[in-house]
Amino acid sequence: MRLRSALRWLCFAILFPITEASQPHLVFILADDYGWNDIGYHGSQIRTPVLDKLSAQGVRLENYYVQPLCTPSRSQLLTGRYQIHTGLQHEIIWPCQPYCLPLDEKLLPQLLKEAGYSTHMVGKWHLGMYKKECLPTQRGFDSYFGYLLGSEDYYTHDRCYYIAPLNVTRCALDLRNGEQAAPGYTDKYSTHLFTQKAIELLSQHDSAQPLFLYLPYQSVHVPLQVPEEYMTPYSFIHDEQRRQYAGMVSAMDEAVGNITGALQKYGFWNNTVLIFSTDNGGQTLGGGNNWPLRGRKWTLWEGGVRGVGFVTSPLLKQTGKVNRELIHISDWLPTLVSLAKGSTHGTKPLDGFDMWKTISEGHPSPRTELLHNIDPLFVDNSPCPVFPSENATSTVHLTKWQNSTFNVSIHSAIRFSKWKLLTGYPGCSYWFPPPSLSKQAQPMSPEPPRKNVWLFNIETDPEERVDLSDHYPGIVEKLLSRLKHYQDNAVPIIYPSEDAACDPSKTGVWGPWA
Ligand SMILES: *[C@@H]1O[C@H](CO)[C@@H](O)[C@H](O)[C@H]1NC(C)=O
Ligand SMILES: *[C@@H]1O[C@H](CO)[C@@H](O)[C@H](O)[C@H]1NC(C)=O
Ligand SMILES: *[C@@H]1O[C@H](CO)[C@@H](O)[C@H](O)[C@H]1NC(C)=O
Repeated sequence: MRLRSALRWLCFAILFPITEASQPHLVFILADDYGWNDIGYHGSQIRTPVLDKLSAQGVRLENYYVQPLCTPSRSQLLTGRYQIHTGLQHEIIWPCQPYCLPLDEKLLPQLLKEAGYSTHMVGKWHLGMYKKECLPTQRGFDSYFGYLLGSEDYYTHDRCYYIAPLNVTRCALDLRNGEQAAPGYTDKYSTHLFTQKAIELLSQHDSAQPLFLYLPYQSVHVPLQVPEEYMTPYSFIHDEQRRQYAGMVSAMDEAVGNITGALQKYGFWNNTVLIFSTDNGGQTLGGGNNWPLRGRKWTLWEGGVRGVGFVTSPLLKQTGKVNRELIHISDWLPTLVSLAKGSTHGTKPLDGFDMWKTISEGHPSPRTELLHNIDPLFVDNSPCPVFPSENATSTVHLTKWQNSTFNVSIHSAIRFSKWKLLTGYPGCSYWFPPPSLSKQAQPMSPEPPRKNVWLFNIETDPEERVDLSDHYPGIVEKLLSRLKHYQDNAVPIIYPSEDAACDPSKTGVWGPWA
């Protein structure tokens, strides 16, 4: 009987694969290097009226985590899996490294396509491109317009990169339409360009077919570039970098307003779930700020991993809420596939959870634990600007946890409920006040350099000021054993040396070479 009804359902699904109106359009806007203290509703001096309003009409995620770097966050977003399970534990994919997000991973756009969605991507990929099979259009996107590497000039769309095995710096275009190079957009600021491309898509798409639009903006990653007019309102910010950065945020805020305007104009909005998220914490060396959180991009401190994020949609059961449940970027894949009434069949074991009831109805999060990362090869080459004598090698010394099951000299962090444990060198350990406060509050770090185990109660101490590891050795033990468990089940790190064959000088364009 059960088999018969399953078969009947299957025939129905084959005969009518396409969708009812109940499948919402899914729009995912990802900002790049956008810091905790860079959005209006966190009290920033940077003005984000659009993001403030959209989030106020939706659900602000205030206990929401991302990864500390670009490639890692994007990999988890599209696979629903931790880096220890994909081999991408270490750093980012640099332009000449011959690898990409492993091809045996089934990605979010593939799953949505199987559920009947039309899938489109506009913006930054940064999940590898050394061979054609790695490109977005080979990984589930029907269309793609954007750049493949991690950063570039906002106007020329050129990337200059030092190719170590050749001992030369090459500058070449990194902009593509589908798989073809897209010259001819020089002088078009990327925030405007990507917005225009996304709006073109919306104007041509039949709103009766469910749409997945992934829109990872270049904003607000370095280089600090923005049309002058966006900086004018910020003449009161004296720090030059911060002023430029603020202008870039304003351009992005306007862009999101234009996108939501188009979603309304073309009849998508009443059936759309829009998610806005950063990919990692702000880079204080490039105008970003995470105050009062500790650390920044490229660290496992909260400033690196606690992300700005919200969901807005007429389909939310509760709106105008601040959500304090534990949610992670790996949770979007199961959440979105479930909203799409699709199936996660064919993925490898997921680390993410379906969060829709948590976000939409305020249910408790199904997630009690979060592995931030384990990276035995970690180095942070960006200068810790105030006390440059702090560096990775000098900080790792023996502690009383030296004989524990997990090697505490390894860079790692894990969260369980309110507790967060960090080991090894977490990355630049200072609190960076925004330039406007820096007269009263200097960057500071009270840590002795030999320390390599910290335990914080993140609920009462989100700024990670009071290490409780001496007071709760049992919790430390338990979390170390969880880290050991994860590390025992980690796949080997993929991080090949650079390949001189990446040289773009023949084609003038960065792209697949293998
Ligand atoms: C790299 O090139 C520069 C000049 O272009 C030269 O001075 C330097 O010695 C070269 N380095 C190596 C390792 O070949
Ligand atoms: C938003 O739309 C307005 C009106 O068309 C336009 O002037 C502006 O440049 C757009 N901004 C962005 C960031 O796309
Ligand atoms: C959205 O609006 C369209 C057209 O007005 C309507 O047909 C559709 O039922 C609406 N969908 C939802 C989920 O309200």
